[in-house]
Amino acid sequence: MALHRLTSVTIGVPDVGATAAYYEEFGLTPTGAGRFATVDGGEQLALVPSPRRRLLELGVGADDADDLGRIAAQLAKLEIAVERGDGFIAAVDPGTQARVAVRIAPRIQQAETRSAPCNTPGCIERINSRADAVTRAAAVRPRKLGHVVLGSTDTEASERFFIEGIGFKVSDTVAGLAAFLRCSTDHHNLLVQRAPIDFLHHTSWQLDDVDEVGRAATAMLANDPSRHVWGLGRHHIGSNFFWYLKDPAGNFTEYYADLDCIVEDQLWQPGVWEGPNSLYSWGPPPPMSFLAPDDLGALMAAAHQPR
Ligand SMILES: [Fe+2]
Repeated sequence: MALHRLTSVTIGVPDVGATAAYYEEFGLTPTGAGRFATVDGGEQLALVPSPRRRLLELGVGADDADDLGRIAAQLAKLEIAVERGDGFIAAVDPGTQARVAVRIAPRIQQAETRSAPCNTPGCIERINSRADAVTRAAAVRPRKLGHVVLGSTDTEASERFFIEGIGFKVSDTVAGLAAFLRCSTDHHNLLVQRAPIDFLHHTSWQLDDVDEVGRAATAMLANDPSRHVWGLGRHHIGSNFFWYLKDPAGNFTEYYADLDCIVEDQLWQPGVWEGPNSLYSWGPPPPMSFLAPDDLGALMAAAHQPR
């Protein structure tokens, strides 16, 4: 039938112990051996040792064996080698060097989160009571892995691989720089952007609402303010609220809420964006280190070492 979600990311990091502690504090549930689960998505993160930080595998969920056969044929047309296994196929994108494994997987089921009642001019929904957001006390737990952003040394090859090969759809593009791609009804599950080296820019994790984004990031920063990267703000492309933090290996991690959803492809008009709106609608200005992470030079040097 179709691709329907991101299933998982496998990230290589130099210090698995310190990085694992970060993701547990981030709200993911450890399931053993460097693996972590979200509330709705099951095991979605695996950390493994690697000399330099990098995305080792991106997992994509498909419905059935027909999907795997179709994707294998599409990749073969692009002359890309395909590994076939029991219930999966895998191939490497030449631009990001990411191994993409498409697996037959169940569709994600999410219990409904209703918007909290809200008081606005002329419309009082929350009568004689405090906002639920100020009385929430439970630790924030990400609902699912939402998207991944990768630097690519050859965006044309990466876009061919992901769009014509794997079957992602284009939601929006930033002229000459990046493509927002989806394999589900989320506005984007993958962003491939031009970079001097293949690297993992960030992973993004879904929360219930903007208050959970604020609560989760505030808790992370109370323990270590140096984790802050950029937020709170609202993206223009995809519309989501965001707050970016940094793990001990240097990977950015985003809490997000209220992303655009594209349920009927024919009713969405992909846009081509340029200038400031391509990054955000409101919020503090992005730091230089968000656009070009501080360790890019070190990653480029390490890339010449054996992996
Ligand atoms: Fe993001």
